[in-house]
Amino acid sequence: MTNQVHIFDTTLRDGEQVPGCKLNTAQKVEIALQLECLGVDIIEAGFPVSSPGDFQAVDAVCRAVSAPVVCGLSRAVKQDIKVAAEALAAAKRPRIHTGIGTSDSHIQYKLCSNRAEVLERAVAAVKYAKTFVEDVEFYAEDAGRTDKEYLARVLEAVIKAGATVLNLPDTTGYCLPEQYGAKIKYLRENVTGIDRAVLSTHCHNDLGLATANSIAGVQNGARQIECTINGIGERAGNTSLEEVVMILRQHAELALETNIHTPYIYGTSQLVRERMGMPVQPNKAIVGANAFAHSSGIHQDGVIKRRDTYEIIDPLEVGVDHSKIVLTARSGRAAIAYRSKKLGHNLTKNELDLVYTQFLSVADRMKEVDDQALLQIIVQQTERVAQTA
Ligand code: KIV
Ligand code: ZN
Repeated sequence: MTNQVHIFDTTLRDGEQVPGCKLNTAQKVEIALQLECLGVDIIEAGFPVSSPGDFQAVDAVCRAVSAPVVCGLSRAVKQDIKVAAEALAAAKRPRIHTGIGTSDSHIQYKLCSNRAEVLERAVAAVKYAKTFVEDVEFYAEDAGRTDKEYLARVLEAVIKAGATVLNLPDTTGYCLPEQYGAKIKYLRENVTGIDRAVLSTHCHNDLGLATANSIAGVQNGARQIECTINGIGERAGNTSLEEVVMILRQHAELALETNIHTPYIYGTSQLVRERMGMPVQPNKAIVGANAFAHSSGIHQDGVIKRRDTYEIIDPLEVGVDHSKIVLTARSGRAAIAYRSKKLGHNLTKNELDLVYTQFLSVADRMKEVDDQALLQIIVQQTERVAQTA
């Protein structure tokens, strides 16, 4: 089995479903071009039948990018598939993503159907999509809660119908990593023809497990991860691209690789944040404002002596130009000396003692002491030393 994991970015589809994150065509194209620079393998550009605007955006993305596969979502409905194919007509590498709910909950309450009928609809959808494009991805919606024997039967049938990629969404974010990984392992071992298709993870973050579940998926044989920039998406969001990519990079023992050019990660995160007007929480892994900020004295001392004492990723690797030493009342002398030096003041021990004492009294009143406030303290205290000399 290959060690290459394909990154399928659905920021423009699942991400854009978030209330308030709607993008216009120009913004979608701008983000798609950035995703191409980032090196994603597949861009899910939208759900063409959902609105004329989305159709137009998918068509525009197809014309704008060259390297990535461009994918359009559809339900297992003829009209959806036909419209997706039309929207993808200009793509150099088109993919139709079609599927249907396979859990008993979806079959009974959402589709008001039964297992046999859903299996038939799944096969018919894939066969119809194949009349337009070679590359057809099938999603078994709510696969995370789908009975595994039934899921195996559905997948076997859609592989026979020509599906090239099998997406196993944990649509409700319910699974534990062990459960999700075990389901993928079971399918690999029990579905005839499974080697003819790529297995894909698509995990939602309702219990904060989307990233862990995606990693469990690839550890058990999935070779595509569906994810979004900054982890945006329905409800609590999707697997975050930056997290899974950096986990695979940091853990060489997994022996799995992606095509992502990691120095583009931070810029892409900022672009998505800006265009979608969706803030990134400061403590967000990899791309949050505090991801490379150190504020306690003990950590600052360590990181100043050697970065990897408290940082497992060099910020430059993900496009952040430096680690941040934040000066607060918890900071120590090492951080003050370090920052003073950056500001052009190589303090003597005596000066540092005075600056530090004054700094603490200011820091107790302020959340963070910025460079301007620190400079003021340095000037006051070094003048004091000079006068008494
Ligand atoms: O979460 C999900 O199940 C989806 C599918 C439509 C792929 O987004
Ligand atoms: Zn989803």
